[in-house]
Amino acid sequence: MEPDHSAGPPHRRRKRYQGTHPRRFEEKYKELNAERFPDEVAKAQARGSTPAGAHLPVMLDEVMQALEPLSGATVLDCTLGWGGHAARISYAVGPAGSVIGIDLDGEELVRTEKRLRRRGAAVVVRRGNYAGAAKVLRELKIYDVDALLADIGVSSMQLDRPERGMSFKTDGPLDMRMDRSRGETACEWLARADEAEIAAALSRFGDEPDAAAIAAALAGLAAKGRSPRTTRELAAAVGVAKKLGAGRFLKKDAFSSHPAARTFQALRIVVNSEHEALAQLLRDLPWLLRSGGRAVLLTFHSGEEALVGGALGAQTTAGLWRAPLVEPRRPSPEEVRLNPRSRSARLWRVVRV
Ligand SMILES: C[S@@+](CC[C@H](N)C(=O)[O-])C[C@H]1O[C@@H](n2cnc3c(N)ncnc32)[C@H](O)[C@@H]1O
Repeated sequence: MEPDHSAGPPHRRRKRYQGTHPRRFEEKYKELNAERFPDEVAKAQARGSTPAGAHLPVMLDEVMQALEPLSGATVLDCTLGWGGHAARISYAVGPAGSVIGIDLDGEELVRTEKRLRRRGAAVVVRRGNYAGAAKVLRELKIYDVDALLADIGVSSMQLDRPERGMSFKTDGPLDMRMDRSRGETACEWLARADEAEIAAALSRFGDEPDAAAIAAALAGLAAKGRSPRTTRELAAAVGVAKKLGAGRFLKKDAFSSHPAARTFQALRIVVNSEHEALAQLLRDLPWLLRSGGRAVLLTFHSGEEALVGGALGAQTTAGLWRAPLVEPRRPSPEEVRLNPRSRSARLWRVVRV
């Protein structure tokens, strides 16, 4: 049985907002205190949105089924995020097992660690890049695991917090780093990359059909020292490059995609070297699992699917995983209705020979 979740954080006076409903992220104090206001979370989900400050674990039941059997197991969660998957895994492994959770994002990791403790979930939390998962495990004197999960990409908290600068939905500095303690921001990258580099990134990581026009517009702005510095400025520059009127920027519903969505995705992947990290994790994957161990990966777009499908296919042919490599599973229509962000998820599973 899952532990009691009722003990929430201490009461704080809510932010004042105009009108009858909070609109800005920081005003949604009930959703931000999900454990004290579970009804607000249910209401947000019924509207097809993710409650502010939370992340709904994608394909949770399918992930648990794919990771099984778990009682007494040692499990590595390479992308701890909000801890939704890790909490469920921790209850399943029980006191005889152990769960290690890694994440690059030190800011969210602090909140997640506290939340997991409140929920009675035993997870050993480490800040780090999953490209270095083997090193993290070695430091804990663990040399292989029974099961491993990698839920690739970005969390809803990162997308929704304006200060992270990852989304066109809210205005914020054009940052996009998952680890804000190091590296170049998206704003800095755009100011120094040339037109060809920007165009290549937009096509490769965003499948953006207007990559050339957007790259020309962004390089032109950079040449005049007017590179976008905020998410709103970037979204506007994309709109101009695509020759769209302002009205086209209004998303019709949670399922329709914003004209700047592909540009934002591509820049986030570049800034965080996401494909390099994933390629390294895939190279190490067979050596992180013991015989019979299960690796489960969730991908969210075609670039990730190509990387994961290609690597797992080659490793299966090489006899490292049980053959054949099965086509990835998709979320149920019911899950997509409740959590539109799950719509592009693909669940890959391999078992170590
Ligand atoms: C989709 S979320 C994971 C959500 C999580 N499964 C849950 O249930 O809450 C992806 C997470 O991976 C992290 N991440 C992205 N790239 C990473 C990397 N190279 N190494 C470690 N963590 C990474 C992000 O910071 C983010 O928190």
